[in-house]
This record gives sequence, C-alpha cells and structure tokens, in this order.
Amino acid sequence: MNAQPHDTAAMESLLAFWRDAGVDACFEDSPQDRTIVVAPALKAVTRATASVTPVVNMGDATAEARRLANDAETMEALAGAAAAFKGCELVGMGARGCVFGRGDPHAPILLVGEAPGAEEDAAGQPFVGRAGKLLDRMLAAAGLADRVFITNTVFWRPPGNRTPTPQEQAVCAPFLERAFVLMKPRAVLLLGAAAARSVLRTEDGIMKVRGQWRDWRSTEGDVSAPVIATLHPAFLLRQPQAKRQAWADMLELAARLDGDTDGPALSDV
Ligand code: URA
Repeated sequence: MNAQPHDTAAMESLLAFWRDAGVDACFEDSPQDRTIVVAPALKAVTRATASVTPVVNMGDATAEARRLANDAETMEALAGAAAAFKGCELVGMGARGCVFGRGDPHAPILLVGEAPGAEEDAAGQPFVGRAGKLLDRMLAAAGLADRVFITNTVFWRPPGNRTPTPQEQAVCAPFLERAFVLMKPRAVLLLGAAAARSVLRTEDGIMKVRGQWRDWRSTEGDVSAPVIATLHPAFLLRQPQAKRQAWADMLELAARLDGDTDGPALSDV
C-alpha cells in the first residue's frame, strides 16, 4: 500500500478507538442494527448459515434448534448438537466456536449466565474470566462448588461482548431447555438481567426479580424446578457493594438444596 505516514497514523488511531469501544471484528461494509428483527437481520441469518442449513426465518432456525436439541439424549450429545447448529446469527459474527457448558452435567444445580465473553471464547468454557473466578469463589464459599453445571443463554460470543439480543436468545433457547429437561436440576440460578429476561420471560429489571423463587416448567410441562435470579458477577466486580444481595441469593440457593439456613458469611467470599 502507498498510504502516506499521516494516513497510517490516522488509521491506527481510528482502529485503536474502535478497539477501546469494544469493536473487535468486522462483518459488513456498513453498520446494521442487530437489536431488532427486520428483513436485513433475517438475511444475515440466512447468509451466515447458507453453506450449512438453509434457514428461511427465525422460526425455521428455532425449529431446527429444537429438533437437534430434542434428539440429544445426554448432556454430552447436547453439547455436540449445539456445536453443530449454525442457525444462531452469532455463529457468523467472529466467535471462535461454541461454548456450551462446564461442570457436572448430573449436578443438582443449573447455572445460566448471559453469553460467553472473550476469555470464554478462547478457552471454550463459560465463566473462566474475572467474573467466572468471582463466581467460583462464591460457589465454593457457599459449599456449592462441585454441585453445579454452568451454561449461558447463548453459546457464541457476541461481538464486542455486547448483550445478546432477545432473538439470539430465543433461537438458542431449545438447547437451554433441553439441558434443563436432561438434568432435571433441583434448583436453577440465573446470573444477571439477560438470563432472567430470557428464562423468566420478563421485562422487569434484575433488581426487581432477583432473590425470589419462581417456577421453571418445560414446554411439555413434565419437568419443573425452582429458579432464582441474582446479580451477574461482572456487575459485582463493578459494584462490589451489591455483593451483599448476590450473597444472600447464593445462600438462599444453598439453603434450598440443603435445608440449611445458616450459611457462611459474606466476608468468606
Ligand atoms: N459472562 C457470562 O454471562 N457468561 C460467561 O460465560 C462469561 C461471562
């Protein structure tokens, strides 16, 4: 290239600005609003999946997800089915691969976070970054460390670690529901607003819904479990004063499992 020195400097500065703003991948020549489902978004789904499964609309992608998920008879098979699924828009947006879950697939507790971030994308496992380490410390202090399976509402890293859209969550939901049906957990913990929105199907804010037990029932209605939402560990890193509420939710979860109301103290975390 014959770029003038000052052009190169300007370009580097612009790229640094974008990187700092969280833009770490390029997909189109012009920007698109991916937070709403309109015809261009559907075209993007079709384009991203064209070489694998012809997807006509979100309904078809969700039906394909449900078919793949329901064919899985074990959690291991379910992880493979999710990895084979190409109908989520996020697949074509720069994620290295599918991040399905970690922990004991036969555990009594299912944890659901928002979406893999950069570290999870690199490691292929959910909650391995700073937020994950805080989560692990809280689980250990509550005596729940080896009693959980951890997954997310979507299985591919959204570009720039943005929040997954309701459409991306909806298309991945059959895999999450199948995990729920296969595990038949004794309790479910939702981590943060995006997980609460997707699983509880509510627009209420996390501060309103956290700390209250609700019922999660499978579509067929044959599996149900108590579910409680709490604050996301990444939020706790930014707002440490909110740890008290998240810790109360964690103890509530432990008590539900063990029938024990006197847990360890927040200072143990
Ligand atoms: N945040 C999430 O919600 N999920 C992860 O896997 C990592 C960070």
